[in-house]
Amino acid sequence: MRNKHSVGHLAARKSPVGFGALMLPRSIAGYAAAFMIALSYGAQVQAQQAAGGDAKAGADKRSQCIGCHGIPGYKASFPRVYNVPMIAGQNAKYIEAALSAYRKGDRPHPTMRGIAGSLSDADIADLAAYYASR
Ligand code: HEC
Repeated sequence: MRNKHSVGHLAARKSPVGFGALMLPRSIAGYAAAFMIALSYGAQVQAQQAAGGDAKAGADKRSQCIGCHGIPGYKASFPRVYNVPMIAGQNAKYIEAALSAYRKGDRPHPTMRGIAGSLSDADIADLAAYYASR
C-alpha cells in the first residue's frame, strides 16, 4: 500500500519534469520546421500573386529564355552585340511591363520583340512570376 502510493506519487511527479524536458527540444524543432515551411510557402504564394501569374507554369515556359537570360554576363550577338540583362529577381510588374512593351513594339529590341510577340498575357504573367521568384 505504502509502496504503491509512493510509486504512483513518483510517477506523477516525474512525468511533467522528466517527460517535459525530453519533449521540449523536439517540439521546438517541430515548431521551427513548421514555421519555416509556412514562411517559405507564404513567400512563394506572395511572389506568385504579385504578378497574377503562376511561377510554376512560368518555369515550364522559360525554355525559350534560358539560352540568353540564364547565363550571367551573357551577350547576345544578334543583330549586334547586346548585353543580356539580368531578369531573375526583378520585380514581376517590371518584367511584365517590359515584355508587354516588346510585344507592342514600344521597346525596339528585335529578338525580344520576336519572342514577346509569341507570348500570351498568361505566358507573360507566368514568366514574370517565375523570374521574380528567382
Ligand atoms: C536571343 C537572346 C534572348 C532570348 C532568347 C530572350 N531574351 Fe530577353 N532580352 C535579351 C536582350 C539582349 C535584352 C535587352 C534588350 C534591350 O536592350 O532592350 C532582353 C531584355 C529582356 C527583358 C527586359 C529586361 C530589362 O531589364 O529591361 C525582359 C523582361 C526579358 N528580356 C525577358 C525575356 C523572357 C521572359 C524570355 C523568354 C520568353 C526572353 N527574354 C528571351 C535577350 C534575349
